[in-house]
Amino acid sequence: MQLVLSLILAESSIELVPNELVHHPAILKSAQRKRKDPHALILDQTYHHPAILGLGPRGIGRGRPDIPHLSLLLALGSPLNLTGGLKCYVHTRDNNIIKVDSGARLPRNTDRFTSLLEQLYQEKVVPPTGRPLLSIESGSIGDLLAEISGEVIALTTAGLPKSMDQVASRLVEHRNPVLLVGGFPRGHFSREAISKAKESYRIHNQHLDAWTVVARAVYDFERAIALGEARSRT
Ligand SMILES: C[S@@+](CC[C@H](N)C(=O)[O-])C[C@H]1O[C@@H](n2cnc3c(N)ncnc32)[C@H](O)[C@@H]1O
Repeated sequence: MQLVLSLILAESSIELVPNELVHHPAILKSAQRKRKDPHALILDQTYHHPAILGLGPRGIGRGRPDIPHLSLLLALGSPLNLTGGLKCYVHTRDNNIIKVDSGARLPRNTDRFTSLLEQLYQEKVVPPTGRPLLSIESGSIGDLLAEISGEVIALTTAGLPKSMDQVASRLVEHRNPVLLVGGFPRGHFSREAISKAKESYRIHNQHLDAWTVVARAVYDFERAIALGEARSRT
């Protein structure tokens, strides 16, 4: 049976505009431009920076839908995904779980991706008819991991040093490997998230962007599978 990697972009910086910000001029301006209710907008640093600043330290790292967007584009376009070896999930900081169909062709433009998320939060499934490409339901990282029920490895700068190709060799040893990558710009996984991982590794001595980590993880996983297949033929 084909080995499938479950990739979870955990605690991703996606959320609806919080109630305390709906009357901020930066939010109202976006709502007017998009002709949407301010409550239905996804918080976005690019447009809502002055509003997010008003949250003080609670605003750090919030409103970055571009992180899961770029990470998903890299993952979904990979040979691993195209050959059925990848399943992508986004867990959001407001505890929603987005399931991404491996055949989804996401918008290349982040503003369009953000609008798609707004539609998703409203309608729960997009497109509303036919095969769902994205679906959303409320749930914690624990709920998602319980559903997948695999062996979880987390990538974090706070983990044990190991190169990505060594981590990939560990992943392919498992029947149902799950990889956690943070979908946030700074800080670390919450205690809840990291406690679910059996192992956690640091793949470089510097902090990397989530999409760089995703690209490396997917590529090294592809190579580890190919290596395993070559060994089993000899
Ligand atoms: C922009 S980083 C978040 C910053 C955080 N300081 C960190 O590195 O854990 C987003 C995600 O990329 C992954 N990541 C970034 N640099 C990494 C590294 N050197 N080793 C392992 N994972 C890394 C982690 O999963 C992290 O949550």
